[in-house]
Order: sequence, then structure tokens, then C-alpha cells
Amino acid sequence: MERIEQLKKERDAVVLAHYYVNDDVQAIADYVGDSYYLSELATKVTQKTILFCGVAFMGESAKILNPEKTVIMPDAEADCPMAHMITVKQILAKREQYDDLAVVCYINSTAEIKTYADVCVTSSNALRIVKALPQKNIYFIPDENLGSYIAGFLPEKNFIFDKGFCPIHAAIKKEDVEKARAVYPDAIVLAHPECTMDVLDSADFTGSTSAMIDYATASEAEAFIVCTELGIFYELQRRNPAKRFYPAKDGQVCPGMKRVTLAKVADALENLSNPVELDEAMRQKAVKSLAKMLELAQ
Ligand code: 13P
Ligand code: SF4
Repeated sequence: MERIEQLKKERDAVVLAHYYVNDDVQAIADYVGDSYYLSELATKVTQKTILFCGVAFMGESAKILNPEKTVIMPDAEADCPMAHMITVKQILAKREQYDDLAVVCYINSTAEIKTYADVCVTSSNALRIVKALPQKNIYFIPDENLGSYIAGFLPEKNFIFDKGFCPIHAAIKKEDVEKARAVYPDAIVLAHPECTMDVLDSADFTGSTSAMIDYATASEAEAFIVCTELGIFYELQRRNPAKRFYPAKDGQVCPGMKRVTLAKVADALENLSNPVELDEAMRQKAVKSLAKMLELAQ
């Protein structure tokens, strides 16, 4: 940890981390947050190097928005399977099929997919952004669960989905929530909108990782059942040492996020390894959908 602090100065680097990475990595990060906070923050930091402790789409988004900065990743293989659950061919087919179509792309997607989107969203701003779009037809990719959740608030829109999902959140079943409630009857159930609709229907609160942390912190309840990746427990417990937090089931672990270790953070800073490199023509197209998100999320 001391070496990392020293390297941050030597490399003029800032360390950004998502709430799902290992506890010790969150502890050495300069900023920890949800996907929207981190992507917006990446446009404001002054250091010349950004070390992104998260999965590939997060580092890519930081680089797309900040081509002049060096963006490095602790682990080149840390990836999000959902980001690959949509193809360019599927998008082009929908554009052929529908007039008045907005392609709304969850930030959990590849840089190439972002070049074909009209706007990007994260779980914390998707509702606000889709509501502000003039188009009636909303092709929401790749996460069908987040899209279905948003669709419930916007009956005036026609949502179109394909079969994308987060394997970690989709594995949490309504029965898991019911069993956990039976064990902890006083607990409040918090769920991430990447969970399936039946889990969200049985939850007391649905929101992004940051929103869940804020809700638990403001709540007078003492116990919570948490339907998202276990990394969030570090910040939940840090901010609320007297409250109790329980996972809904075993195995709420994102393998991609867990590839980011303290040793790899030190190595990446030492060697400036795993730089995010993008074709400039592609970056210039991809930046439009991310910039649109930053504009509409205000
Ligand atoms: P948020 O932190 O934006 O809620 O996203 C969760 C997630 O799955 C990131 O991959
Ligand atoms: Fe992707 Fe799910 Fe991991 Fe988030 S938790 S990075 S959506 S696999």
C-alpha cells in the first residue's frame, strides 16, 4: 500500500475504483463510486494517468472521454460478460425495422457497440435519460433487466429488448430473497436493477450501487438484505458500522471485478501496463453517445 501511494505521485496517477472490486483495492483508491460517478469523474481529474480498478468497459469509457490521458488497467482480462451480449448486426437490424428509434446503450458495453448507440446510460441515470428522449421506440441494450425496470416507469414508450443480462445479478432468485427474509424478518431488501423483475418486485428499494449505499445510510433500519455484488459490503459497512448487511444468497461475486488485486495495481502503476488503446476513428464515434449521457444526466 505504501508503494502504491509513492507510485501514484511518481506517475502523476489517480486511482478510480468501482464498489465491486476487492476491499483492499477500494481502500487504496482515491475515488470509489458507481459507474456514472466514475465516468463523469474521469473527465474532471487533473492527473495525467488514470488507473481504473474495474472491468474493461469502465477503462474504455474513461479513455473514450479522455483521449489525452493515459488510462491503465490492473488486469487486462477483467471483463464484463454482459458487455458482449449484443452485436452490431442486431443494432443495424433494429434500425432497419423501426423509424423513430433510439438505441439506448447501457455503459456495460464495448467501445464498438457505443459507436452505434444514440446515447449511453448507467443504472443511476437511465430513467431520467430515456424519459428525456423524443423517440417513442427505445431499443435498450444490452441489459434486458435494467431496461424492463425503466420501462415500468415509462408506459408512453415502446421498449424493445434482446437477451442481455448480468450473470451475477440474474442468478439471484425471488426464492433466495424470500428465504433471506424468513431468516432476517426485520431486514430491508435492497436490489440492483440488473436483478430480474420478480426480485425487484419483492425488494423494498431498487437503485444503483451508490443509491443503495445512500439509502442504507439514511435509513433507520438496522439490517439489510443486499441483492448485488459482495464488493459493495465494504462501503456499506464502512459508512454504517453498527448496521448489519446480508447477501441474498451465496456466490454474489463478479469474477471480472475480482481479478483486480492490490499486487496488480502496484504492477500497473510501476510499469504503466495494460494501457487502454482505441482506434481514433472509433473513439470519435463512441464519444458521442457517452457525451450525450453526460449532457442528459444533469
Ligand atoms: P452501478 O455501480 O452503476 O450501479 O453498476 C453496477 C455494475 O454492474 C457495474 O458493472
Ligand atoms: Fe458485468 Fe455483472 Fe460484473 Fe457488473 S457485476 S461487471 S454487470 S458481470
